[in-house]
Amino acid sequence: MIPSPLPPDFIPFNRPHLAGPELEYIRQAVAAGKLSGNGLFTQLCQHFFEQHYGIPKVLLTTSGTDALEMAALLLNLEPGDEVIVPSYTFTSTANAFVLRGARIVFADSGPDHPNLDVAQLETLITPRTRAIVPVHYGGQPCDMIALLALARRYNLWVVEDAAQAIEARFQDRPLGTFGHLAAFSFHETKNLSAGEGGMLAVNDPELAARAEIIWEKGTNRAAFARGEAARYEWVDVGSSFLPSELNAAYLWAQVEARDIIQEQRKRHWETYAAALAPLAAAGAFGLLPVSPDDSQPNWHLFALVCKSEPERDALLEFLRQRHILAVFHYLPLHRSPYYASQHDGRLLPHADRFGRTLLRLPLYHDLQPEQQNRVIEAVRTFYETR
Ligand SMILES: Cc1ncc(COP(=O)(O)O)c(C=O)c1O
Repeated sequence: MIPSPLPPDFIPFNRPHLAGPELEYIRQAVAAGKLSGNGLFTQLCQHFFEQHYGIPKVLLTTSGTDALEMAALLLNLEPGDEVIVPSYTFTSTANAFVLRGARIVFADSGPDHPNLDVAQLETLITPRTRAIVPVHYGGQPCDMIALLALARRYNLWVVEDAAQAIEARFQDRPLGTFGHLAAFSFHETKNLSAGEGGMLAVNDPELAARAEIIWEKGTNRAAFARGEAARYEWVDVGSSFLPSELNAAYLWAQVEARDIIQEQRKRHWETYAAALAPLAAAGAFGLLPVSPDDSQPNWHLFALVCKSEPERDALLEFLRQRHILAVFHYLPLHRSPYYASQHDGRLLPHADRFGRTLLRLPLYHDLQPEQQNRVIEAVRTFYETR
């Protein structure tokens, strides 16, 4: 047993949840004698998501990052092509396209949510623009109707970064089914997890055959395995994007338990929201994500938007001293040590503000009521004593 370095009363930010059959499914994968990718559990997961969401082709990947990198390869970007990405996001959203030589044009967040501001998007489009990559932060949808209309008008690719958006919907349609492509994450912190893992949703059927080749190191091995090719060989570029069956077996147990997992997250989310709403109404902080009427959230995270960076940092420290791990989130990429010098200098005040003031509270399946009460009481005490 690996010893935990944490004090016994410590409330972590996240704790992986075992739905139940994970270890049994891993045992079955071992017994089946196939541990490399594209075995039974991989196919179970892929077929499930294809049916459940109505996606023409789903490919499991070793991470959400890999799914984004596959998407970038599929778009055949050339050096100097521009890709519009929110600044308030994880590095992988931009990095996947930088690896292909693209120039990133950063979009600001909306005034009241961290997603890219669709109202400002058209001003960022130039003759070099090839793609828009909306991120559904915390499962809160971007306005995909307005975004797709713009993309169609300018003939642009849309790659949804749905890393945090599994099971969330916009106008009764699952997030990750709007763009030509979408990347999901099954990282340990996500609602459904494989430890590390991801999937690429190929919503444009014309990209499906090549996606499978890129997935399998640039070979037609998947077609060969189905008996559709006499031998498999190198037919395109690609890499090793498919996960081991061990990860897929673990993930399948989580996929089966998705309704229970989502219900529990919803309960935790609503408990926080009900307890902290009076403070929010009194103006102490904002609450995220907000769910527009035409969307269905996925309860991925619960965040406070504090009034200032010193106040946010003081609250983080106040909670840490009480053995509660709350965390900030992204540092806007237009200010990152790697890309700041390549940013065009536009001010992105809303992305900056979320970078300085957002704080996420612990939210995970096995969070106990007394632990959640401790978090709530600590937040209340912090604001009552200020
Ligand atoms: C918005 C966003 N995109 C991409 C990723 C990358 O996913 P992964 O960690 O599975 O590579 C993350 C990870 O948390 C994310 O939050």
